[in-house]
Amino acid sequence: MSTLCGKDILRSDLLSDGELELILSTASRFERALTAGDRLTNMQGQVLATLFFEPSTRTRLSFETAMLRLGGQVITMADPKTSSSAKGESLVDSMRTVEGYADVIVIRHPRKGSAQEAADAVAVPVINAGDGTGQHPTQALLDVYTMQKEKGALEGLTVTLAGDLKNGRTVHLLVYLLARSGVRLLFVSPPGLEMPAAITADLKKLGAEISEGGDLAAAMRRSDVLYVTRIQRERFEDPAAYERLSGSYVVDRAMIQQAKPGISIMHPLPRVDEITAEVDDYEGAAYFRQAANGVPVRMALLALVTGRN
Ligand code: NCD
Repeated sequence: MSTLCGKDILRSDLLSDGELELILSTASRFERALTAGDRLTNMQGQVLATLFFEPSTRTRLSFETAMLRLGGQVITMADPKTSSSAKGESLVDSMRTVEGYADVIVIRHPRKGSAQEAADAVAVPVINAGDGTGQHPTQALLDVYTMQKEKGALEGLTVTLAGDLKNGRTVHLLVYLLARSGVRLLFVSPPGLEMPAAITADLKKLGAEISEGGDLAAAMRRSDVLYVTRIQRERFEDPAAYERLSGSYVVDRAMIQQAKPGISIMHPLPRVDEITAEVDDYEGAAYFRQAANGVPVRMALLALVTGRN
């Protein structure tokens, strides 16, 4: 039984190196089983509840696919407007209720810190699928898994993270995992959307090599991977500020031609206009492969936290 059994997954930077390694190797074993067409039964008799208080396509559907591929079953609350939260039920009461129905709970909620609060309310494992501008640990894990698959070892790579690094929660944990693996980090964002200073300071304390700037083309000439994020419209109080910044970085074929040869392009998706559709045919465009990798990585997480790996 691994140390992940019974654990909540709230922030991936709190995982030990051994736990991280175990998640990635379990994901790769499940991916091989899926490719071979094996019928898995690890989660037979178990129920996953997915509670989504914010929109989602990939995260919810890939968690649900992961559970079904492991032989388990799924109950879902995808639209808070049709649940009791619309009647004013507290998150804690909703969690206590769902705990009576499910063996593991995946939750996405607009409030930073809500995943911790949800996990504290129940005894079953809780997995954070995004808490506002806070964290999105399972995305960070599938991003690391994708980078390893696309590039081999992470050590020594240079990775540019571009876009809304302030509100884009997926990068907030990814950078810790990358820094731990010996990756050089370049941050490129429009003014006002920089990586939170507390995170940058933390990374420097960990000994990470980081540079920050505004020139995406220059960063792409030095990078093995470009990780693009969406400007997070829903986090802006002032729509005019969003309009000013949206479209400030657009990756197109011409930019890739000027970039380091073989550069991989990643994006957690959804994209709005940060990457033009013509980039999709470029062989280093990894974002749809990245989305597909969500299934084996989430299979690994579900199986490990319930001790059924
Ligand atoms: C991200 C999210 O929800 O934080 N999407 C995802 O889970 N793949 C990124 C985003 O919304 O921009």
